[in-house]
Amino acid sequence: MSKKFYITTPIFYPSAKPHMGHAYTSIVADVFARIKMIDGYDVHFLTGTDEHGLKIQRAAEKANMNPLEFCDKISKTFKDLTKKLNLKNTDFIRTTEKRHFKSVQYLWDLLEKSGDIYLSKYSGWYSVSDEAFYNNDEITSKDGDNVSIVSGSKVEWVEEESYFFKLSKWQNKLLDHYKENPDFILPKSRKNEVISFVESGLKDLSISRKSISWGIKVPNNDKHVIYVWLDALTNYLSSLKYPDTKNKLYKDFWPADLHLIGKDILRFHAIYWPAFLLAAKIPLPKKIYGHGWILSGDEKMSKSKGNILDPLEIIDNYGLDPLRYYLIKEVSFGSDGNISKDKLENCINSDLANNFGNLCQRVVSFNEKNFSLSIPKKIKFQNDDLKILNKFSENLDKIRTEIDKQNLNFYIQFIVNSLFDANKYFNDQEPWSKKDDEVRLNTIVYTSLEIIRKVSIMLYPIIPESSIKALKIFDIKQNELDFSSLKDHTYLKEGKKINKIDILFKKILKK
Ligand code: ME8
Ligand code: MG
Repeated sequence: MSKKFYITTPIFYPSAKPHMGHAYTSIVADVFARIKMIDGYDVHFLTGTDEHGLKIQRAAEKANMNPLEFCDKISKTFKDLTKKLNLKNTDFIRTTEKRHFKSVQYLWDLLEKSGDIYLSKYSGWYSVSDEAFYNNDEITSKDGDNVSIVSGSKVEWVEEESYFFKLSKWQNKLLDHYKENPDFILPKSRKNEVISFVESGLKDLSISRKSISWGIKVPNNDKHVIYVWLDALTNYLSSLKYPDTKNKLYKDFWPADLHLIGKDILRFHAIYWPAFLLAAKIPLPKKIYGHGWILSGDEKMSKSKGNILDPLEIIDNYGLDPLRYYLIKEVSFGSDGNISKDKLENCINSDLANNFGNLCQRVVSFNEKNFSLSIPKKIKFQNDDLKILNKFSENLDKIRTEIDKQNLNFYIQFIVNSLFDANKYFNDQEPWSKKDDEVRLNTIVYTSLEIIRKVSIMLYPIIPESSIKALKIFDIKQNELDFSSLKDHTYLKEGKKINKIDILFKKILKK
């Protein structure tokens, strides 16, 4: 039985093409997925598009298209992005797929049978942009419009017959769950926001709309379509062929290990979703992590604000791995962050070209001159060598624990420090001045190569393509990557041939 890991991104609204914010969540999820993959886990990594509801219906109308054709077109740009970002996702779900309808309607039936659904009338505020209902005290007026204080988006008044979910009934159970599972919602600061919201009292939730048609019909009442969030959240189950709970996918991967989302949609994931699941007696996901926002100036980058940065443009100009590296290193995970070309260029020049790329080049060319591209033989480690090698073996368990806490900042800092140490080691040990001390010379070069191997493995989840290029030095292929081998100081076989590699990162000439 191998270890399993199920990670999800939000399914994105295909109301407009993807932007940097979507790329950010996707890349972070991919980093976690890849770390688990090379650490011996079977990984299910789900992403996709959320295609029903008024927001999409109106976007389609505006484009003069029928909603499905519209979704086909825009959803494809999200799917294309998964390729452009080199994601290892194992599924891409669209909520307009048959497999998804089945699970949503099944879940609705369960909630109805458990007595958690009733028919009544909704009157209150609704934001189409957020597809969210807001209480009176969450509304303010701005430039003559009523807007949500939480998100800043416009709200409209809605009054219509609606089915309700008895959310209020689950208030205490939710609070118990948060208490008993202190890591259910991360980061901590956001967990506290959720808890105070729940403590302030939950109202029952409207879960159907009568005035719109673009959605999944309520079973036994086709005048209503199911609220788009109840529809969307269920995607995490549909991908595992729910309601067939006997099938391998479901058995292997539910409950999900990590729903990775942005902080904008924490309420839906940390309150509504677990409440639906509690009512349906389905085990709850293990963790919900609400990361920060990519900002544009001081504002959230978003389709509706029209202040977006196109990830494809950055990739075309700078390459994918630099973008991936930048988002992990320069956006402190959990907090908001910015992306600027200047900082990106600095990252490429100093971290990628100098610290990583140059380390590989100088060690390999030194090897070529002195060992004709082969792993040195006759090695005898001394303290200086062991000190740097041991950092990996001694910290491997810590690295794993920190990753299980989504502490990406620890992970990237470990890499940055290792690269710094490796370059310093090579300089301080001066292998070029050790030509009279064969064993010492051999050992320094061997150790340097070992460090390159280890750092490249750690970098693989972040910059997969470049890491694989670097590991060509040792003929190590993607399917041979093994996180546990960070423990091994004598992985490289003495006397074995190594390969020269092309420059990994070109420096950017700054004006
Ligand atoms: O909310 N910075 O879809 P959505 C960082 N369909 N991440 C950002 C971001 C930014 N500026 N902008 C967007 C929805 N994101 C629903 C989700 S899930 C069952 C349904 C990312 O297209 C971030 O992950 O508005 C955020 O939570 C998500 O995109 C919202 O995408
Ligand atoms: Mg949004």
